[in-house]
Amino acid sequence: MTLTGKAKLAGIIGWPVAHSLSPVLHGHWLAEYDIDGAVVPLAAGREDFAAVIDGVRRAGFKGVNVTVPHKEAAFALAHHADLAARVAGAANLLIFVPDGKIGAHNTDASGLFDSLEEKLGRGSLTGKNIVLIGAGGAARGAAFGLQHYGHVAKVTILNRNKDRADQLVAHVGKYLPEAKFETGALEDWPTAAADAWLVVNTTSAGMKGNAPLNIDLSVLPNAASVCDIVYDPLQTPLLEQAAARGLQTIDGLGMLMHQAVPSFQAFFYEEMSGKMPEVTQGLRDTLEKALAARG
Ligand code: ATR
Repeated sequence: MTLTGKAKLAGIIGWPVAHSLSPVLHGHWLAEYDIDGAVVPLAAGREDFAAVIDGVRRAGFKGVNVTVPHKEAAFALAHHADLAARVAGAANLLIFVPDGKIGAHNTDASGLFDSLEEKLGRGSLTGKNIVLIGAGGAARGAAFGLQHYGHVAKVTILNRNKDRADQLVAHVGKYLPEAKFETGALEDWPTAAADAWLVVNTTSAGMKGNAPLNIDLSVLPNAASVCDIVYDPLQTPLLEQAAARGLQTIDGLGMLMHQAVPSFQAFFYEEMSGKMPEVTQGLRDTLEKALAARG
């Protein structure tokens, strides 16, 4: 890759950032669309976050993707924020506007929704019952996205600690007063699963180095699908269990790829003539190769 002095730049800021797939992901599209630009890793600790953002903004960067531990700080630092970022209280995308202002966005919820629609069909979520496992930040975005973009009938949130599920619903419900939510503990799984069309795991259980999520998928209807937002490993024990039962599965790379679409479009709007980059099998192959290389 060769950059000219006119190259358009964006960043991915985190600590650590070395494990991030964002440079590879955006790099695939930059090569595909033959764009003179780069999305560079910015390793910054909490104490340096604001200074680094100010520096790259002044240096002409178009914006940055934001990862752990800066998502809340990014939201707090911005001058305005979209609805998804306000609901999450966190941003994974900062866009630097020419007037010096910073816009906070959160594309995780739409990324999950787009990934589900790609696999399960356009409009297919409307009116369905979904079981969401977990009540952390990822669950908050997912609960909002399923209701706001997916127009599902009901989201049942099950969490090891049920109080956190209740708190999540109290918060998201303020933004979506019409949305139907139920909550429960993981012990309520067999009852909740009985009429579920889709299960989404948002917990870190099943991630490399963590214990698998301990739920038995045999109680799900035969037509149900199972989505895991964990993508390392790609086939989590939960997805393996679902596949063994013959259920449709949606892995975490789908959400990762789709959440990046609005970022790339915002960073390289002029070069793309306003078009969205495409999520293709080629992009998935690139990311699977990068994951395998990581070991
Ligand atoms: P994030 O912001 O990434 O979602 P988090 O706020 O730390 O992370 O939330 C982690 C979620 O994973 C929580 O819902 C947690 O359950 P508790 O609230 O009961 O702690 C859930 N979690 C983590 N490990 C789990 C496991 N082994 N089994 C079930 N749930 C687990």
